Amino acid sequence: MNRDIGVLISGRGSNLQAIIDATRAGRLDARLAVVISNRADAHGLERARAAGIETLVRDHRAHASRDAYEAVLVDDLRARDVQLVCLAGFMRLLGATFVNAFPNRILNIHPALLPAFPGLHAQRQALEHGAKLSGATVHFVDTNLDAGPIVLQAAVPVLDDDTEDTLAARILEQEHRIYPEAIQRILNGNWTITGRRVVFRRQA
Ligand code: GRF
Repeated sequence: MNRDIGVLISGRGSNLQAIIDATRAGRLDARLAVVISNRADAHGLERARAAGIETLVRDHRAHASRDAYEAVLVDDLRARDVQLVCLAGFMRLLGATFVNAFPNRILNIHPALLPAFPGLHAQRQALEHGAKLSGATVHFVDTNLDAGPIVLQAAVPVLDDDTEDTLAARILEQEHRIYPEAIQRILNGNWTITGRRVVFRRQA
């Protein structure tokens, strides 16, 4: 089995960069086969090009339906035989056409400790709720928003003088640490999903 992954982005691409950096540093044994963005102006595309990774722009607005759009993404990723699809700030909801094409093979990173604060502006939600801890979650993607089985989490404190930006920066540091680690652990195998629990078995 190869260790090729596809990364889907919509914007800045700092998590993509963390994945690229981890492969270079030897912390992540994976090959980035393709980076796909739904936006032509995503800064992450430049990061991918600078790293010599194939890029594709697939604009959702060019397709009549979500299914039609997802079918294109599925074809792109299958054509490159990726083992794992990593969403990294990809701002489109994915439905059954996409999710069922890669069962237990799609990861996402979310800037909160799920199941708290799913959806947009998770850092603002945590602040407004008065949470004392928040963090980052890597989870499998199913057809519900930010809801699939949890792979790894990291917690950070919410400080009294935090703004959305300072909290987001503290969380982002953890995102960049745990996303490559989660990808590595999933690619290594030796895990099962029991109910909602992702269980890693010890290597023999
Ligand atoms: C991150 O905060 C991630 O958790 C969320 O979207 C943001 C993407 O940032 N899903 P970047 O594009 O990886 O810099």
